[in-house]
Amino acid sequence: MTERWYKQAVIYCLDVETFQDSDGDGVGDLRGLMSRLDYLARLGVTCIWLNPIHPSPNRDDGYDVSGFYGVDPRIGTLGDFVELVHQCDNRGLRLIIDLVVNHTSDQHPWFQQARSDPDSAYRDWYLWAKTEPATREEGEVFPGYQRGTWSFDEEAQLWYHHRFYDFQPDLNWSNPAVRNEIGKVVAFWLQLGVSGFRMDAAPFVIEEIHPDTSDRRFVFDWLNDLHDHMAWRRGDAIVLAEANVDRSLIPEFFGPRGDRIQMLFNFLVNPRLLLALARNAATPLVTAIESSPPIPDQCGWATFLRNHDEADLSRLLDSERADVLAAFGPEEDMQLYGRGIRRRLAPMLGNDRRRMEMAYVLQFTLPGTPVLRYGQEIGMGDDLSLPQREAIRTPMQWSDTRQAGFTSSDKPIRPVISTGEYGQQKVNVTAQQSDPDSLLSWFERMLRTLRECPEFGEGQVTVLDPGLDTVLALRFQSPAGTIVTTTNLVDEPCMIDLSPLAGAERPMDVFGNRRYDPAAPELSRVDLDGWGYRWIRLSRATRG
Ligand code: NOJ
Repeated sequence: MTERWYKQAVIYCLDVETFQDSDGDGVGDLRGLMSRLDYLARLGVTCIWLNPIHPSPNRDDGYDVSGFYGVDPRIGTLGDFVELVHQCDNRGLRLIIDLVVNHTSDQHPWFQQARSDPDSAYRDWYLWAKTEPATREEGEVFPGYQRGTWSFDEEAQLWYHHRFYDFQPDLNWSNPAVRNEIGKVVAFWLQLGVSGFRMDAAPFVIEEIHPDTSDRRFVFDWLNDLHDHMAWRRGDAIVLAEANVDRSLIPEFFGPRGDRIQMLFNFLVNPRLLLALARNAATPLVTAIESSPPIPDQCGWATFLRNHDEADLSRLLDSERADVLAAFGPEEDMQLYGRGIRRRLAPMLGNDRRRMEMAYVLQFTLPGTPVLRYGQEIGMGDDLSLPQREAIRTPMQWSDTRQAGFTSSDKPIRPVISTGEYGQQKVNVTAQQSDPDSLLSWFERMLRTLRECPEFGEGQVTVLDPGLDTVLALRFQSPAGTIVTTTNLVDEPCMIDLSPLAGAERPMDVFGNRRYDPAAPELSRVDLDGWGYRWIRLSRATRG
């Protein structure tokens, strides 16, 4: 039996620089993170995904890498990193890191040599054009903040391609030398003990670029090669890819035999999850789940509610997007790139505790592995006075003391949220840890229960018809047993009929927004509070 740890995982995403500072310079670091591993173990997450940790001029929060074989000196050393891996191992926590290989920083020595010396071997590591490309203005990812996708480099006297900002020149993946080097980068970090990578911008990595056409051709074989290479180095390593692509392309990214990418973030479900919350209706989610393409058994989805970027609504219809914006990001300042919302979940849901629980339960019981962004577990807010996505990247709020216990410096890398409803006096870990009714304590209970239910990770999922559009009901069937989840998306109590599921065993509530009276075996009258949820176990394999 193959171990698929990633299907049973709970992934916690954090940016080392804003998590915990250990040396008082105002920047979070690896030693600070190490001091918080017990917190993460207690929370119940099983895998940590670190946003980029490499040396970087930090013009895109580390997504502009200037050296792939190191750690940014601001956050520590390679020695600290290895110690972190060891400390994670001690607690049974896995570690994955961002793999940002579509582009480098323009300060990367590869680009510096490529631009300055036409004879350099690195010249062909990037994408150049002699004349102004016809597609110069097309395909921007950050509209309003990015100027085109081709820029003129004075030094090289050539145009270079950059899918993202102009300081992030794209690597030329058609060049085998580039692929070979990235293979070494991957092997390096696997050797140091990571369990895999979150692959940044996967579709852009494998697209072939021509200056005169915006037609794309994806070279999926490169993903097969990466998959094989990793499997030889570390059999259980995974790639969790960011591929916000059309539904029809999803099977290609997983590979026909599951031989490319193990996990993809579910960008089909995420906007529909937000739409379901905005409309208080399960239909968008039902449609999203039922229209999800079948995926190979060894592959899986990663679900998220909010991540470190804007909530991208570009896959919704105009009327749908308008509803989500009206509900969760009505002011222009809350919106970004003409397609998304730059807010954290708590403010989006008006800090309504019951609604937040319901939203997280929805996410955590969707088919796939849940990913939780740091600070969500305590209901952190955002700071809209900060530019673009920085609004949702403020320091972790550990306590009500100065700088929220994040740093002893007066100059944190980004201001700590210190006033209002989401200020560190009101929202912090220390206070919530000692309060059994806090959101954090609730998360700990929810994750503990989730991890005791193997049905969720490996089970076959069926969308049920509870007879109400306001309730999502899913059945998870696995060799370990069967669980049904019911979530009420509206603030009115209801009664649903699940009688087609009635079986020999007595149904048993395993988790809920409160302790419900046990459902009768015929399951014809299952009650749910407004914004309530229940996980009911229908059967369980007998344990030997
Ligand atoms: C996607 C990342 O999530 C985002 O934060 C970054 O700006 C771009 N890729 C460029 O690397």
